[in-house]
Amino acid sequence: MDYITVALPKGKLFQRSVDLLAKVGYSADNVTEDSRKLVISNEASRVRFIITKTVDLPTYVEYGAADIGIIGKDVLLEERKDVYELLDLKYGRCRLMLAVPEQMQRPKLTDYAHLRVATKYPNCAQEYFRSLGIQTEIIKLNGSIELGPMVGLSELIVDIVETGRTLKENKLVEVDSIYTATARLIANRVSFKLKFDRLDKLVRDLRKVLDEEDEQCR
Ligand code: PRP
Repeated sequence: MDYITVALPKGKLFQRSVDLLAKVGYSADNVTEDSRKLVISNEASRVRFIITKTVDLPTYVEYGAADIGIIGKDVLLEERKDVYELLDLKYGRCRLMLAVPEQMQRPKLTDYAHLRVATKYPNCAQEYFRSLGIQTEIIKLNGSIELGPMVGLSELIVDIVETGRTLKENKLVEVDSIYTATARLIANRVSFKLKFDRLDKLVRDLRKVLDEEDEQCR
């Protein structure tokens, strides 16, 4: 039987994804975020895990280096890779939003025109401002976006909020919500056809586990 290669993203979705996959028989010894081994195989169940940087994960799946992966919808919307989205896993809920320093809050969104925006999501931010007819200068950063307004790099940020703690700690306020995102199971288009039976079963098993967890929460 062929291996199924699963890409897992470092960061917030990692542990929840490892735990969920283990419940449907996709597990291996020592799948940890700080693992020195970047490829971890389970020969008995013919599963192989690769651990990637979040933003790179859709690329591994698009090129077929991984058959499937788990990644936030926010990354899919930003990276726009050609992959199948198989299942909404419902966890990792967060939203992309526009925030400003408390003292810079203005009455209308159009009052923020011609300002600089720091973001890890330049495509989504561009599309958002374009849809509002607001012209801004987008500055792409790779992390610690909140630093932008603090040091005068930008006036605004477009970033992900989960608990709201980071905004609060940096005295930023959300002025508009752009979209909500959750974790998704994605697949390489060719793998999905060639390994259909196993992947279809995986989707059905995951759906069952998620439904059961949902029931228990009620
Ligand atoms: C994300 C995001 C915020 C933070 C929001 O960053 O960019 O900084 O999480 O979470 P909160 O609302 O729960 O505080 P991440 O931790 O992914 O790291 P980064 O700053 O290096 O991008």
